[in-house]
Amino acid sequence: MPDISSRRVRLRDGARDERRHDDAREGCRPPNRGFDAGAGRWVFVRSRVFVLVPPTPPETYSFTRYLRAKESVDDAALHRPTLERFRTELGRLADRSSNPVRIVDVGAGIASMCRRLIEWGVLPDNVTYVVLDADPESVRIGRETTRAWVEESDREAVWESDRRLFLPESATTVRFVADDAFRHLEGQTYDVLVGHAFVDLLDLPDALSALLDGVAAEGVCYFPITFDGRTTFRPPGDEETARAIVEAYHATMNLDEGSARFGRTLLDAAVAADAELLSSGGSDWVVSPPYDDQQAYFLHHVLEFVEESVDGEALDAVGAADTLDEEGVRRWVDARHGAVESGELTYVARNLDVLLSA
Ligand SMILES: C[S@@+](CC[C@H](N)C(=O)[O-])C[C@H]1O[C@@H](n2cnc3c(N)ncnc32)[C@H](O)[C@@H]1O
Repeated sequence: MPDISSRRVRLRDGARDERRHDDAREGCRPPNRGFDAGAGRWVFVRSRVFVLVPPTPPETYSFTRYLRAKESVDDAALHRPTLERFRTELGRLADRSSNPVRIVDVGAGIASMCRRLIEWGVLPDNVTYVVLDADPESVRIGRETTRAWVEESDREAVWESDRRLFLPESATTVRFVADDAFRHLEGQTYDVLVGHAFVDLLDLPDALSALLDGVAAEGVCYFPITFDGRTTFRPPGDEETARAIVEAYHATMNLDEGSARFGRTLLDAAVAADAELLSSGGSDWVVSPPYDDQQAYFLHHVLEFVEESVDGEALDAVGAADTLDEEGVRRWVDARHGAVESGELTYVARNLDVLLSA
């Protein structure tokens, strides 16, 4: 089984905190949402009186909240020609038979991609979509978020069970499954496999072969937002420090010999596995000011990932331990949190979207 010990799968404290925090934020919004509060936040203090208080980094971090915050960043980043080709392939598979097109979304987190594909009209009618993640808490939050989304959207929807949603208008069934992707695929075959921000957690090329084995002949695999080993923070502070921290951060992704170029490795693994490349393209995350609350949280959480990951061992691994220690990393990260608060930080991460024929 592939090693999934990358820090990017580390789950942080629970959803209960997350909800309390989000509700509190909602209550802080001024009635005039069009007014630009810059990096600050308008807080209602007395009847008709609002004061601008400086923003602060979050006190707690939650992985599922990060996934929620990531949604709009992914919306902007996805490589549209590859998404369009994916739509075409889904249509082809739907036309092939009157049976539902079977889709599995592995490492689906809180089901963001499933909702996106329905919302954006990418899925054909008559589909079964399995939202699968190894983390039961993510699956639970995915169900709750989908329930709220369905209610808000006024879609006709039938919850056939706690884990099974049917959308009669498009004959779409969504199932929520907590399981390991590789174990699940040993007993199931699908027409389409989606792995969104997932492949960079895997030990390629073996893991790709295991995923392809779960896809029927003429099926497709869609791997959007596959990290490809480049991270930029601007302003960087001291350039040398920034370079060492980013290099150490990549090295902690501890697969692909520390280069973290998972996108390129995926392209090579596809050739080795004889999978035809149908489309690919860049899907960089670019988050620059002005940000909304979700994007600010996303940036804080990415910085938290960096601080957690880059320890003495990681600095040593990239030859930076003589000039930089964990305290230096903390100071650098704190300054980037400050740059988020003052609305100055720009973050760029290089990703690739890849669509393969199985
Ligand atoms: C970076 S997150 C991406 C989540 C989601 N696809 C998104 O982009 O919003 C990776 C997800 O993969 C899940 N995961 C990691 N290894 C897995 C495995 N072997 N089987 C199933 N899920 C796994 C983690 O629990 C996590 O939710």
